[in-house]
Formats: sequence, structure tokens, C-alpha cells
Amino acid sequence: MCLLCLWAVFLAIEIPPLRQAQGRDKEKASQSWHYYSISKQATIFTMKVALGVTGGIAAYKAAELVRLLQDRGIRVQVVMTRAAQEFVRPLTFAALSGEKVITDLFGAGAEDPNIDSAVEHIAVAQAIDALVVAPATADVIAKFAHGEANDFLTTLFLATTAPVVVAPAMNVNMWENAATQANIQTLKARGYAVVEPDSGYLACGMVGAGRLAANETIVLAVLKALRAEQDLAGETILVTAGPTREPIDPVRYIGNRSSGKMGYALAEAALRRGAKVVLISGPTALKPPSSVEVTQVQTAQQMRDAVMAHFERATIVIKAAAVADFTVRAAADEKIKRKGPMTLELEPTIDILAELGAKKGSRIIVGFAAETNDVLANARRKLESKSLDAIVLNDVSQPGIGFDSERNAVTILTHAGVETVPETSKWEVAHRVLDAVVKVRAERKAPSVRR
Ligand code: CTP
Repeated sequence: MCLLCLWAVFLAIEIPPLRQAQGRDKEKASQSWHYYSISKQATIFTMKVALGVTGGIAAYKAAELVRLLQDRGIRVQVVMTRAAQEFVRPLTFAALSGEKVITDLFGAGAEDPNIDSAVEHIAVAQAIDALVVAPATADVIAKFAHGEANDFLTTLFLATTAPVVVAPAMNVNMWENAATQANIQTLKARGYAVVEPDSGYLACGMVGAGRLAANETIVLAVLKALRAEQDLAGETILVTAGPTREPIDPVRYIGNRSSGKMGYALAEAALRRGAKVVLISGPTALKPPSSVEVTQVQTAQQMRDAVMAHFERATIVIKAAAVADFTVRAAADEKIKRKGPMTLELEPTIDILAELGAKKGSRIIVGFAAETNDVLANARRKLESKSLDAIVLNDVSQPGIGFDSERNAVTILTHAGVETVPETSKWEVAHRVLDAVVKVRAERKAPSVRR
């Protein structure tokens, strides 16, 4: 497919750096949380988790959980039920988390209850990346399963769309009771993660299942819910994103339709999964994720040079950029006057991906393919001809997704098979692409597969 037909020639006398409203909102939301610098993982995330603590003997163990989550660079806001406060004082969690501990639905007890405290559960519900409830009593599990919302935690549970992890802790008979088991099944069936309790001596003197799972196990479940499994730790991933601009004269250019959102989502998702990320970005209105090494470029040639400068240390390359396929043979030094019809002479740009494929060594190389017709056949041809390990096919003839959209639907082709990702967020697509990379890496290690 020739991308020339998709190009717009922009008469770009002045191009203000537009920041999308949504990006602005996200930025504003993140300002209420300070960045936390990390100890163990040497990465800086901005993930936020609400930790719900309910009334059981194991409530004291949640104090260590706060610390362990913080060690992973996760900001923690604690929400305590009334019963939990009988076991541990809110001040303990306030001191550990450095955040206000939420203990009441309408801010009762607060010095100045107002509309902000009345809708706080909605604000927290929207700000968090996950809710973890540890320990979760039989009572709170029943309320979650039946949709009751009579305190802050149960209201937050209903109001959030973030993933939820529930770590039960209770007496063995309560745990094994058919009612509790039915409630647990309901939660699992609705997609909530349940960290099964351990077996052993319980605080009540009995022996059996019901002891809060080890904090390390709960942390792993939270990381999984956050899509931050660290399965890319040790990898250096080079991601290209956005369009390139090929100058016509000092004020005009030829560019591709690309917002850069897909590439930026890939960079952030890879970072969360433990990779070191180098982002080569064409002009976009997006803010790069913190702790990603970014090189900004304009033209295809600059993108090629930047990619080559970082290629040596990359173990994985993902080329999501919409590189211009043609550049103007002789861009004018001065602004071209509008005198009548004009003809531009274009020449092909260097195919960066093909160059990378030719010298890939042991690297995993992933390309993107924007296609409008014979989509699968064209993508497969590019997979083979550019010596790629995977190609992400965008059928750009579909309206409403792809270009400049928050959403996308793709097909991921590898040498082992084809996977369809129906319309979803670009964030989810990014994770599915990274899942495919992890799979290719595992297949390479398997003795029967040679590529
Ligand atoms: N690509 C590249 N360098 C170019 C053009 C494209 O590295 N000069 C990369 C893109 O980043 C993408 C892949 O090649 O990962 C496929 O891009 P696409 O435009 O779909 O395909 P082309 O190879 O350019 O082929 P055609 O435009 O003819 O379909």
C-alpha cells in the first residue's frame, strides 16, 4: 500500500503544540499524587493503589504491605473500615503511606466535612490504578458480592473501574462456609482477583485455611493486576512513535496521520513491565512517560539516525512510528509563493525497519503495518521481507479506530500464528503486543523452534 494516498500536505505556517484535553486531565489528576522514587526496582512509576483494610487480626500485616508496594514504586492510599480501626490506628497507616487515611464515607469526624469529602469515593475511584483489599473479612467479601455500599470501602469498590485484588483472612470455618465460598466464586466470575488464603495455625487457635496470604504473594497479584509483572526486566526496548515530517519549504511539510498514542502506550507499558525504554518520537502532542529516554526527531532520516544510534544496546525493537515513505527531493530554502499549480518531486525514504531486520542478530523486531486492502497478505509479506519476528496489522480502512483515536483493533502476526485483538484501548493493545514479544522470546528459548 502506498501511504502517499493517506498523507495530508499541511500548510503549517504555525503549528501550536496542541495538548489533548484528555492528556491535560490526566496530568491534572496525577498532580494530586507526588512522584515516588523507588528503591528496589530502579524505575519510577506513577501507579496508585488504594489499600482497603478491614477488621481482622491480620490488619496489622497490611502495614508491611504498604511498605512492600511502595518499594515497587506504587503510591498507596489506605482506606480503613470502622472495624479495622479497632485493630490498628489510622495514624500508623498515615505515617507509613504519607497519605491521608480514609476512614469515613462523608468525612464525618473530619474537621470540615464538605462536598469534597462527600464525593471523595468517586475521586479516589477515578484516581487509582488498582484496589487491593487485605485482609478482606467474610463480611466485606459478602458486601462486595452483593453490591452493598454502606461505607467508604464498599462504595469505592462499586465506583471504581480499576482492577480489584481481594486477599481474604478469617477463621477456617468461616472461610469454608458455603456462603463465603459462593461469594468468592461470584467475585472470581466477575473478574476480580482473589489471593487464596494460606493454611496453618489461625489466630483463633484453629488449624486450616484462612490465614492471610504472604504479603509477597499479594504484591505479585497487585503487580499482575497493574500489568506490571516485570516480565520484561532486563530488556532494553527501543520504541518508535508518531509521524515524521518531510519539509517542502521552511513552513510546510508532508506528514502521516499519526498521533503517536500507540507508540507512547507501548513505551509506558514496557516500562511498567520492567524494561528499560528508549523512545524515538516524531512530533506529537503527547508527554513521554517519566524515566523513558526520549529522542525527538522530525524527519525519516533523523528517525533512522536516532534508531541506529541506540540499536546496538536494544534487545527488542518495536517500530510503531508512521514513517513517511517519501520525502521531497529538494526542499525549498524559502517559502514557496502560491502562484498556481505546482508539482513536488518525491523520493522514497530509507526503510528503517528493513535495515534493522537485516542486522537484527538476536534481537526481537516488531513492525507495524497500516493496510487498507489485502490486509493479511500484505502484513505477512512485510513480516517475511523485513525479517521481523512479529507484525501488528492495522486495518486503517475501519472508521473510528486507529489514527488519532484512543482505541484500536489489530491483528498480531508472528511466525507461530495469528492473533486477533478486537477493538479495545491502545493501552490494552500495547500489552497484547508485549505479550506477543514475551511469547516469541519463550519460543526462541524452546529447543524445537529455530529463527
Ligand atoms: N517503516 C520504516 N521506514 C520507512 C517506512 C516504514 O521503518 N521508511 C516501518 C514502519 O515504522 C512500520 C513498517 O515499516 O513499522 C510498515 O510500515 P508501512 O507504512 O505499513 O509499510 P511500508 O513498508 O512503508 O510499505 P507500504 O507503504 O508500501 O505499504
